[in-house]
Amino acid sequence: MSKVLVTGAAGFIGSHLVDRLLVEGHEVVGVDSFTGYYARNIKRRNLSRALVHKRFRLVEGDLCRMQLRAICEGVDRIAHLAGEPGVRSSWGEPFEIYLERNVYATQRLLEAVSASGTRRFVYASSSSVYGPDGGGPVAEDATRRPASPYGLSKLAAEELIDLYGRERGVPATVLRYFTVYGPRQRPEMAISRFISLASRGEAVEVFGDGTQMREMTYVSDVVDATVAALEARPGDRPRVYNVGGGSRTTVGNLVELVGEALGERPEVRYETRVPGDVHSTWADLRRAARELGYEPRVSLEEGVGAQIRWALAERRAPSLA
Ligand code: NAD
Ligand code: UGA
Repeated sequence: MSKVLVTGAAGFIGSHLVDRLLVEGHEVVGVDSFTGYYARNIKRRNLSRALVHKRFRLVEGDLCRMQLRAICEGVDRIAHLAGEPGVRSSWGEPFEIYLERNVYATQRLLEAVSASGTRRFVYASSSSVYGPDGGGPVAEDATRRPASPYGLSKLAAEELIDLYGRERGVPATVLRYFTVYGPRQRPEMAISRFISLASRGEAVEVFGDGTQMREMTYVSDVVDATVAALEARPGDRPRVYNVGGGSRTTVGNLVELVGEALGERPEVRYETRVPGDVHSTWADLRRAARELGYEPRVSLEEGVGAQIRWALAERRAPSLA
């Protein structure tokens, strides 16, 4: 058993990671500031299982402000998932928030980690560091040319991690997650919105013409890769891995899949394409397979079905105050 710190513990992916680490017998400290990116009660609910677990402790606080050395003390491994996640909302004034929550928060945490005896630091980066795809699977050493301010902030965090790895010995791994979905998915993401609107008989919104392609990754696969990275032996310098789901689809097809599973034919309203929304993502997973033993296990159809069952059950459940 080890002691693991998970930042962004109340979020979509972080809360699943916490649940898995508890099942595997670890002691888990979760940090989250419950940002207003989406409703606090949704995040509390994400943690409902963990909060009653005796090996879990939640520290509510902002990584940009809190005393991090004390939190990192005695921690064996850290999974850093806290951040401001939206791609399309990162233009204009909100960029300040992206700089603070994605770049400054990471730098503060790295300072604390480099002064502690932490054996492993895993960072949740993003496919959006690559930018427009080159028409085939993208490997980790491909050119990084973000198409959105969000992607740029994630790239800046990756660079900080590389720097603290080389100069300050932080034993880090960077995982580039590709569009993650499944139960607890953030409410503004495509599948969440499609389920919520179509199940009420309302029109779904598609940005652009719906031909954009996404590599879709089910959340338990992302958790598998993250746990494997937490357990792997650190190399001499930070290593980067793509974490994709092995299935790609157009957004138009996603609408159809959701409609079929709900037994509906959703009406589609086409809206203008949003800047920063890349036309296609596609992960080359060979390095993650070779070095982390990672292999995605959940197909798109299974995963969308699981998310729909969860969303409909949540709607029937009594709301948390
Ligand atoms: P999320 O918004 O559900 O979770 C992020 C959590 O971090 C939130 O609960 C938020 O309150 C917390 N947080 C943000 N800033 C904080 C701070 N300064 N201090 C403490 N807590 C803070 O998002 P998610 O979808 O679970 O994404 C988790 C991570 O994975 C993010 O870093 C995101 O960039 C990355 N990522 C997500 C996806 C995806 O498809 N969901 C894909 C690639 C990368
Ligand atoms: C997702 C996450 O939201 C980011 O946090 C993450 O960094 C990124 O994946 C990644 O892979 O790195 P995105 O691919 O934009 O970003 O995921 P969705 O929000 O689910 O959108 C998928 C596609 O559906 C986009 O083309 C988007 O424009 C479209 N969409 C979304 C719609 O057409 N309608 C909607 O209502 C929502």
